[in-house]
Amino acid sequence: MATVQMKVSPEDLSQVPRGNERIPEPGIMVIFGASGDLTKRKLLPALFHLEQSGLLPEKFAIVGVARRPLGNEFAADMRAGIVEFGGVDASDPRLDRFVEKIGYYALSFDDASHYAGLKAELDRIAAERNIGGDRLFYLATAPEYFAPIIENLGAQGMAQPEQGRTGIVIEKPFGHDLDSAQELNHQVNAVFHESQVFRIDHYLGKETVQNILVFRFGNGIFEPIWNRNYIDHVQITASETLGVEGRGPFYEKAGALRDVVQNHMMELLSFVAMEPPSSFDADAVRREKVKAWRAIPPVPITNAVRGQYGPGVIDGQKVVGYRDEERVNPESGTETFAAVKLGIENWRWAGVPFYLRAGKRLRKRATEISIQFKQPPLLIFNRMQSGGACQEIQPNLLTIRIQPDEGIALRFGAKVPNTPNMSVCPVNMDFDYAAAFGTSSANGYERLLLDAMLGDQTLFAHRDGVEVTWGLYTPILQAWANKEPEVFPNYFAGTWGPDCADRLLERSGHVWRNNLGGKS
Ligand code: BG6
Repeated sequence: MATVQMKVSPEDLSQVPRGNERIPEPGIMVIFGASGDLTKRKLLPALFHLEQSGLLPEKFAIVGVARRPLGNEFAADMRAGIVEFGGVDASDPRLDRFVEKIGYYALSFDDASHYAGLKAELDRIAAERNIGGDRLFYLATAPEYFAPIIENLGAQGMAQPEQGRTGIVIEKPFGHDLDSAQELNHQVNAVFHESQVFRIDHYLGKETVQNILVFRFGNGIFEPIWNRNYIDHVQITASETLGVEGRGPFYEKAGALRDVVQNHMMELLSFVAMEPPSSFDADAVRREKVKAWRAIPPVPITNAVRGQYGPGVIDGQKVVGYRDEERVNPESGTETFAAVKLGIENWRWAGVPFYLRAGKRLRKRATEISIQFKQPPLLIFNRMQSGGACQEIQPNLLTIRIQPDEGIALRFGAKVPNTPNMSVCPVNMDFDYAAAFGTSSANGYERLLLDAMLGDQTLFAHRDGVEVTWGLYTPILQAWANKEPEVFPNYFAGTWGPDCADRLLERSGHVWRNNLGGKS
């Protein structure tokens, strides 16, 4: 298919205001569970990138907290992580200065007697470095420690200090069903005011996800057609080629619906479906998202399907089935694939199906949203074709490529030149982030860490949103827990998932768009 590339001119880029980012106040970031992978792979590289961009305050410290007694080797390990996972040159002189800001404190998360010592250590660092009272606590631990850590921070007066601003960042999962999410929210809000709480969904840090809002609300031409009158259906796919990557025990308890659909995919759906907020501030944006989710009626169990991968081939390599993965039950009933059909009962979307699917070990890595428009009311050209280049007129399709190959493509029909009749062929207008801006987008954590330090909650989940989305999926999870899947595994690794996912769409006369990453 022909593709028209769109490129931003250097003149246009030079007009974009730069350097207007705010820099947070001096403070200390305290990372609980700092010996885990996330800190080394994502958080520290992101913080160093912020430092490189001049977006961290001069007076700043990072304190890793975990159970293991570690000394200076923690900072050395983080340095190695920044180089390996952040793509940073090991000889960058800023790196040594940055590493000096990293400290470590050993503590048992659920031992209340350890927290006075932590408080004293933070006060000592703050006094020594003239940092002031701002603290950001980051919970990167297993979820069972969220509650004891929060309670102990509260008991030591660290949540509401006399001086400075305090926030708490919580990594997903925020609960594993509606009851546990409500309980966690209750525990968090007993100690921290909601305005201090930053629930991270790293999808909201992705440039392409934020760009959905700019695309819709920063342009005049799309909003008039962004509704049931013009849109036939919406597909959102989060397809991974990776398996569970050694996270068997975690994944056994999670499964695809909890791991990705209830959070990342629902965030994508909300950005596509929400009404225009009156401003881009946290309250306005989050209120509209919650309104969109609340308009989704309960999902009949027949509109949710699950799958589990068996052995197969990915990128030419043989891979084992899920049940043969490390530390996975050989008779596991956990789903590694989930698909749902949702409706949104409001004036904009009534009658438009939203299909969501997510899975591991699928054919291709791609997260995409495709919005299929309705056919023109009368297909005059179709009838005139006889043996032209294209036999069928395809409906307009807007594809938002979240990752990889970030961009947006619009498919439309064009006349094939020099043909005797009006042959119509689909072509694409394609906007490609890397080609247009000459840069690839960051991993999401930079934006989110900076916003949390600045106290901006726009790109973080609100308690109401977490509870509404869990409310939607909990009945499905319960029904699945009560009924063993009939045949697992039900798809081969390296395919597009189980047949039942195809049937879910066929019932409404639709098919999954599997040309992901392609431009049509
Ligand atoms: C995480 C899930 O939240 O998101 C993982 O726990 C999943 O299982 C990951 O692989 C996907 O994130 P991304 O950014 O690679 O799409």
